[in-house]
Amino acid sequence: MLTLSYRSTARIKSPECEIPKLVSQSAESNRKLGMTGILLFDGFYFMQTLEGSWDPLIELFLRICEDTRHTDVVPFGVSQIDNRKFHDWHMKFVDICETVRLIPDMDEFNFSDERLHQVHSGVLAM
Ligand SMILES: Cc1cc2nc3c(=O)[nH]c(=O)nc-3n(C[C@H](O)[C@H](O)[C@H](O)COP(=O)(O)O)c2cc1C
Repeated sequence: MLTLSYRSTARIKSPECEIPKLVSQSAESNRKLGMTGILLFDGFYFMQTLEGSWDPLIELFLRICEDTRHTDVVPFGVSQIDNRKFHDWHMKFVDICETVRLIPDMDEFNFSDERLHQVHSGVLAM
């Protein structure tokens, strides 16, 4: 299995309407694809970690890259895994308030270049 994370710049006008729809459609589709993961949103950037078999995950990632609801998709944290971290979640969504709760060591809550790896490590340690 593979895990892959990325950060992207959101291009959505109304996050409170569009994100719940995106998350429920993604969870449904990920269930069928055997995909698990987590999506975070800091009000400006998305950060997503996906886990699953290589081919479906790479196909999904290429589809996600084409999605006009975000731009500048930058992958990182790609590695082979034996066990899933997010086995209970086909697509868990975490907003910035919940990020604060889940990653207590963070003193600044954004997914800027300086903070990205700290958030990612915090997510993997949840
Ligand atoms: C930030 C973001 C995260 C997404 N995550 C997923 C996901 O985990 N699973 C998924 O099936 N689609 C996800 N999508 C939606 C896909 O980009 C795409 O719209 C969906 O797979 C349907 O593709 P299709 O229209 O080619 O069938 C995401 C989109 C965005 C903008």
